[in-house]
Amino acid sequence: MPRHDAASRILGTGFYVPPRVVTNDELASMFDTSDEWIQQRTGIRERRYSGPEDTPAVMAEKASRDALADAGIDVSDIDMIIVATLSPDHDFPGTACFLQDRLGLPGIACLDIRNQCTGLLYSLTTADAFIRCGQAKKVLVVGTEVHSTGLDFTDAGRDVTVIFGDGAAALVVGATNDPDRGLLGHVLHADGRGAKHLWMPAPGSGIFPFRAPKSMYEDRSVYPQMNGRHVFKFACTKLPEAMAEVLGKTGYGLSDVDYLVPHQANRRINEMVAKTVGFPADRVVHNIERYGNTTAASVGIALHEARADGRIQDGSLVMLAAFGSGFTWAASLVRF
Ligand code: ACO
Repeated sequence: MPRHDAASRILGTGFYVPPRVVTNDELASMFDTSDEWIQQRTGIRERRYSGPEDTPAVMAEKASRDALADAGIDVSDIDMIIVATLSPDHDFPGTACFLQDRLGLPGIACLDIRNQCTGLLYSLTTADAFIRCGQAKKVLVVGTEVHSTGLDFTDAGRDVTVIFGDGAAALVVGATNDPDRGLLGHVLHADGRGAKHLWMPAPGSGIFPFRAPKSMYEDRSVYPQMNGRHVFKFACTKLPEAMAEVLGKTGYGLSDVDYLVPHQANRRINEMVAKTVGFPADRVVHNIERYGNTTAASVGIALHEARADGRIQDGSLVMLAAFGSGFTWAASLVRF
């Protein structure tokens, strides 16, 4: 029999994406790519780009207020904020502090998590741990990203640029007395040997004598660098492993899972993972066609949409799974 030992649950979900839609054809007018190539290789049709009115912290606030409304709780009930982002408003302080100010919650704990596409699941696991040890009661977990201001819109950057989009997602996580419902288990992993297969070298304090050298524009080190094929293979191996591990840890079988909500990096990766583990294709949640890869926000946006359209309901058993730069990968099993 599965062990039920949830201590916290997702009380509400929300998201925000900026209104500006950028189609594949628009990108093809800037550099050498095509709608056909992008759709065939990634599944992406369009993504959203923000403007100056929608910084990562602003979008985080909008997604947070959406999640708080969904949870039916007042913002003043939140006693901790965790923000996952690889595109913070500023190098320091963390975006969680800017979000805290926008929400009017001075004094509560703020934490930024730097785990890229796996950031939301690392944040969710951290929120669960803080609640389990009595350090927090209601935690706002947010993934927020503005990629569009940091991409290379030339032929040299086309492999990465077509993938990313901007957006934010938020989860309200709170303590529960119902051990059968909530966050049932998590697995978190990382392998730093893969760090430079998917990274943004500059600016960085490891660069001497000046962390933001002017050369970073000419040598393109200011743009994300990706060994796409290596990342693809890695994801297709590690996601099934993480899913099996979290099922083993919680005592459930794959056939118990109602929906798989994976990170949205490439539709082909998620189809391959479902095929590898033998999970029904029609119960994998996809939305990459509309938003591209929003890294830390992607699992949260997909989860919210699947709840909003009625696929995920009270009682649904949901597998969340993600991989990303680091390399990092994770899975969580959630009973709604
Ligand atoms: N448009 C047109 N052609 C392109 C583009 C583009 N946007 N990008 C690359 N190509 C070309 C390449 O130059 C190459 O041409 P060549 O054969 O003449 O040399 C050809 O297409 C094939 O390139 P590949 O890189 O081998 O293409 P692949 O099928 O691997 O697809 C992709 C590339 C989509 C990037 C894929 O590798 C992928 O999705 N990888 C995983 C990406 C991922 O998950 N990233 C996570 C990022 S999130 C995070 O944690 C930060």
